[in-house]
Amino acid sequence: MQRLNNKTCVVTGAARGIGRAIAARFHAEGGDVVLTDIDADAGARAAAAIGCRFVALDVREEDDWARLAGAVPVADVVVNNAGVTGFEDGAAAHDPEHASLADWRAVHRVNLDGTFLGCRYAIGAMKAKGAGSIINISSRSGLVGIPGAAAYAASKAAIRNHSKTVALYCAQQGWTIRCNSIHPAAILTPMWEAMVGDGPDRAARMAALVADTPLKRFGTPEEVAAIAAMLASDEATYVTGTEVNIDGGLLAGSAAVPGG
Ligand SMILES: NC(=O)c1ccc[n+]([C@@H]2O[C@H](COP(=O)([O-])OP(=O)(O)OC[C@H]3O[C@@H](n4cnc5c(N)ncnc54)[C@H](O)[C@@H]3O)[C@@H](O)[C@H]2O)c1
Repeated sequence: MQRLNNKTCVVTGAARGIGRAIAARFHAEGGDVVLTDIDADAGARAAAAIGCRFVALDVREEDDWARLAGAVPVADVVVNNAGVTGFEDGAAAHDPEHASLADWRAVHRVNLDGTFLGCRYAIGAMKAKGAGSIINISSRSGLVGIPGAAAYAASKAAIRNHSKTVALYCAQQGWTIRCNSIHPAAILTPMWEAMVGDGPDRAARMAALVADTPLKRFGTPEEVAAIAAMLASDEATYVTGTEVNIDGGLLAGSAAVPGG
């Protein structure tokens, strides 16, 4: 099924992981995909492999968004996917007692400022048609507290709330520009590779990381891309201001039985 025929789709942070899978799925659905990433080499390689366009874009930089608006002035779908945990350069204190202000701000600059700028670009690129779909990639961590990743959790919670503000604002203007957030839990991407490693204990480490997940496994980037394709398509024209959890049942509740 080609659900995104004639739709221009911009995806941020799409050189790898979830963003790349979304770009590939949108392309397979007939979309005219613009793959963007801060990593120009990896982004250009991913775009060539998929067969779509590439534009270098650091989501923190207003000038980069202005350049994108020049290159891609009209869009039907924008996925604000680029995100960081703050642990990319190794372990650092990210708990509420010891986190530095600089580290807190660095995570918010990518995750929250980047999503704000992405939504602003999207509205500008969609309002001439008065229709479109903005999809913001939040996280399970935007719905619950995470003691060791305060900035990540706070930024993802803010993305959830901003998505609802954008949805209401666009509806108020009389546009059918929809805005929703997706909340993945453990999805196996390069973001996790440092934690699972490739040693002989890889399988045991992976099992330990999803021990509390009812479905007892990591999700795949393609499973997130399938949800994004639905939200991007005209099958979801009455869906705005809401969130979709994709977490193997993790947020459904506790499996503990009374007295067990
Ligand atoms: N993998 C998971 O388990 C998981 C769970 C919940 C939410 N998420 C969210 O999904 C999104 C994608 O995660 P992933 O696992 O694919 O991550 P990843 O680290 O594999 O890929 C992230 C991509 O974003 C790019 N990027 C980083 N900073 C950028 C910037 N300033 N501007 C533009 N691009 C930038 C990177 O170059 C990379 O290509 C993130 O927002 C993440 O928080 C992931």
